[in-house]
Amino acid sequence: MTDADSRSHGVLARWEHILPIGPETPRPSLGEGDTPLVRSRKLVAHCGVDELWFKLEACNPTGSFKDRGMVVAVAKAIEEGAKGVMCASTGNTSASAAAYAAHCGIESFVLVPEGHVAAGKLAQAIAYGSQIIEVAGNFDQALRVARELTRIHPVALVNSVNPFRIEGQKTASFEICEWLGDAPEVLTLPVGNAGNITAYWKGFCEAAELDYASRHPRMLAFQADGAAPIVRGRPVENPHTVATAIRIGNPASWQGATDARDESQGLIASVTDDEILAAYQALAKEEGLFVEPASAAGVAGLMKLTREGQAPGGRAVAVLTGNGLKDPDTALSTNQQEVRKTEPSIEGVKSALGW
Ligand code: F0G
Repeated sequence: MTDADSRSHGVLARWEHILPIGPETPRPSLGEGDTPLVRSRKLVAHCGVDELWFKLEACNPTGSFKDRGMVVAVAKAIEEGAKGVMCASTGNTSASAAAYAAHCGIESFVLVPEGHVAAGKLAQAIAYGSQIIEVAGNFDQALRVARELTRIHPVALVNSVNPFRIEGQKTASFEICEWLGDAPEVLTLPVGNAGNITAYWKGFCEAAELDYASRHPRMLAFQADGAAPIVRGRPVENPHTVATAIRIGNPASWQGATDARDESQGLIASVTDDEILAAYQALAKEEGLFVEPASAAGVAGLMKLTREGQAPGGRAVAVLTGNGLKDPDTALSTNQQEVRKTEPSIEGVKSALGW
């Protein structure tokens, strides 16, 4: 083995001591985890907190936080003899499953809701060679089918109902505690199928037990108004939102989410599509952080709480879950400033710029 080969990276190598893996577990890595925490320069003024940090989960190999859990789920599936993996997905889970399956030389099968997956995510699953099935229904219906199918076929289900996904995703909490020297007072994030809030809370609880942190954060989580089953206290039959990643009406980890909320004395509230898009644009234009719409829900939530006189205060971390490039259509359709056209001359460009 050369020096380069033996240099270990990725979630399995770095967080071995907190993961349910052993000598028999393969150790694939695409370099996931260890994402930066970047301090807010401007939006902090609108978020009702003393300090605001962004956890840049778009820096993972497939552009979303899913890679942290997927690498563990795929490694465990291979350890247990699976020849393939399956998931239902609003897009990012499928991109991640497809990538790690390709990396490990196994098959992936993804079920996506027809017409509601952002273009970049579908492009990823196609590029990685996944078998993609568009389902004429929503995510919740696709997940039901995936659960049934993986019960009767020898492929592993790698949705976040797979406990290894949660184990991998909890590593983000440890990274935040390491970076800041303690847990923040507030953690804010979007909620869809509710795996990530479950994983972060598990991570913070374990981080406190293992002396990575002296406290637990309040978990402030946000659903999109048109897809807010936990806020309403009942499943939503036909969820709708511009934030397609969290267009989910019956989250599988519902209980995990409400436990995280209650045990942390936090909240799960909703934000409108307009509020999500305002935060989405502000993150890009004020902070230089181009995220996908769902990823802006946490920041939209902090802004909303602040407007309503419920500023949380303290040091906060907002998890920015996915890359803006995944959803080019929303970026192009929501930005009013038009691209101007001219001939390639100094005069033409000057006149287009109004100089
Ligand atoms: N943000 C992004 C960018 C997501 O893709 C998701 C979920 C979430 C937030 C919500 O996380 O489901 O753990 O509560 N995406 C899943 C998928 C559902 O299929 O890619 P959650």
